[in-house]
Amino acid sequence: MDYLQIKRSTNLKGKITISGAKNAALPIIAMTILAKNRVTIQNTPQVADIKTLIKLLQNLGAKAEFKNSTLQIDTADINSTKATYDIVRTMRASILVLGPLLARFGHCEVSLPGGCAIGARPIDLHLSALEKMGAKIEIKDGYVIADAKDGLNGANIVFDKITVTGTENIIMAAALANGVTKIFNAAKEPEVVQLCEILNQNGVKIEGIATSELTIHGTNKNLINLDEITVIPDRIEAGTYMCAVAITGGDVTIENINPDHLVAITSKLCDMGVECKLSQNSIRVISDGNLKPCNIITTEFPGFPTDMQAQFMALASIADGVSSIDERLFENRFMHASELSRMGADIKLNGHIATITGGSLNGADVMATDLRASSALIIAALRAEGITRIHRIYHLDRGYENLESKLTAIGANIKRLSE
Ligand code: EPZ
Repeated sequence: MDYLQIKRSTNLKGKITISGAKNAALPIIAMTILAKNRVTIQNTPQVADIKTLIKLLQNLGAKAEFKNSTLQIDTADINSTKATYDIVRTMRASILVLGPLLARFGHCEVSLPGGCAIGARPIDLHLSALEKMGAKIEIKDGYVIADAKDGLNGANIVFDKITVTGTENIIMAAALANGVTKIFNAAKEPEVVQLCEILNQNGVKIEGIATSELTIHGTNKNLINLDEITVIPDRIEAGTYMCAVAITGGDVTIENINPDHLVAITSKLCDMGVECKLSQNSIRVISDGNLKPCNIITTEFPGFPTDMQAQFMALASIADGVSSIDERLFENRFMHASELSRMGADIKLNGHIATITGGSLNGADVMATDLRASSALIIAALRAEGITRIHRIYHLDRGYENLESKLTAIGANIKRLSE
């Protein structure tokens, strides 16, 4: 098994180019099920989650070619609508094929994703919305069995909680529905916005894009032609590298970003004493490594993203004072706290609130537990005295492309070794 060996690194310098957003590319790949043409997707990140979803579509009969960052998918020959447990259990976002498969074929069986390290992550909101659109949903032997023989109908959907993939699933289902679907309390994450923009530019009229109220005019089962797509930059990858510079000290320009997607992250880093110089598609991060404490409440976009919570807990571990983090989205997203504590972090957990008293960190053997927790351990290891070895880094490979080479290029002391 691979592990990362990281030594204290200071004064990072140079440039990092951000890859395409995993969480934008996943719904876009699922959306190709709605297309009648072969779809070209540029700037697709070469990470495990993307390869998993491509494999799932190939198992259904789709054809796919993935070279460098260009992905071509043709779903014309899909001959199965059963997304099996062996794949879905490895990547819960596979649930994103439910809406498009049901809308196009009128029947599909998708394995229940099951929970994951950060929480139960139910899909009840996805399923109740599809039922409102006329689907018959049955849960049997661990599968969602969905039927809509006469197609889906437009409906008014009110999400009790804001759900990113729930919103994306219903947008794609509504795209082929008969009539108009309104989604109230829709997610507004940039990844949801890109999905809407692509559909709207390719024959599915959508109003209210980037707001919490979406109106989708369905094509009544007419498949769409999708023009070439370029995936938006990954705001969480960018935020992760910004934190790496913040904790080690240095002067690094992060290129290929959309500053509008980073407002909450940039604002919090500035509060902690980090200088962020924005330009049209890059951000220069300057830090002396001395950080003020922070108070964070995670919430939906444009608020502070839960996917950056772990990384900021690492920053808080060495800040000059006491920080607090209130994790409002997931019930178990503090798995990184115990691993950071093994490096000497002073973290007290009380339900969904973490209180962190800044101090120093020492290298240790630690274990990654989920994708973003892994990146928090890397950030802490770059600051810790001595050597840190991070095990189970397959979690990391799900969402960060070429992480070691990007960090090495700016002077970080990080190596991927095998045990
Ligand atoms: C998406 O997950 C992201 N994944 C997650 O990123 C991200 O953390 C999350 O949104 C929140 O921003 C992808 O986009 C592939 P939710 P998703 O549905 O859609 C509850 C990463 O690191 N809920 O917005 O699964 C749920 O339990 C990953 O890249 C229901 O109760 O999250 C949670 O408490 C981790 N019922 C809250 O809503 C439902 O039917 C938000 O979940 C659906 C969700």
